[in-house]
Amino acid sequence: MLHGIQLALVSPVDVPALAAAYQRNRNYLAPWEPLRPDTFFTVEGQRAVIEAKLALHQASSEMPWVLFDGKRIIGTITLTGIVRGPFLSANLGYWIDGDYAGRGIGTAAVNAVVDLARTRLGLHRIQAATLLHNPASQRILNTSGFAQIGLAPQYLKIAGRWQDHLLFQRILEDPL
Ligand SMILES: CC(C)(COP(=O)(O)OP(=O)(O)OC[C@H]1O[C@@H](n2cnc3c(N)ncnc32)[C@H](O)[C@@H]1OP(=O)(O)O)[C@@H](O)C(=O)NCCC(=O)NCCS
Repeated sequence: MLHGIQLALVSPVDVPALAAAYQRNRNYLAPWEPLRPDTFFTVEGQRAVIEAKLALHQASSEMPWVLFDGKRIIGTITLTGIVRGPFLSANLGYWIDGDYAGRGIGTAAVNAVVDLARTRLGLHRIQAATLLHNPASQRILNTSGFAQIGLAPQYLKIAGRWQDHLLFQRILEDPL
């Protein structure tokens, strides 16, 4: 994908590496994520998370990818809530290991998933939401062809508080 980073669907063999990645990034991610119980950061907790994600993947409603640098998992990127019919839409979420920030990996991952959503999944639209104080994520979305479509008050409970979010969409038939 970029600088030898691979994008792959999560698998049960990723459980220990994913638990380690979340442990390394626990404080880094805390302002941007829902409150996580301590068990989330354990191998057992990640096994349950991945099993749940793979069940949703089997049901065609989620695409959970991990980013791998050859040694470590350095992030995840996921399409959730995949809806077909006349909507053909999904929600996008992602994070990149703090040690790898600012190298273009987030942008490359979003571009790769936009491409897969169009070519492999046949979707029409991806939606993403960022906190107002997350300019790095907004920059990724802007450079990947997403347009801001609104501001949703109290949209997601992040870091323990219902927080406003900027909403973005990417119409997949549109050129970048
Ligand atoms: C947001 C995040 C995914 C960025 O990943 P990354 O791999 O560092 O991103 P990239 O290097 O591809 O690009 C970041 C862009 O934001 C820009 N940027 C970084 N910090 C910025 C800031 N404070 N203000 C404005 N732009 C900023 C960078 O310059 C870069 O833009 P460029 O491509 O024009 O140079 C990562 O920091 C992260 O995981 N954060 C915590 C979780 C999170 O916020 N997830 C997204 C939720 S919507």
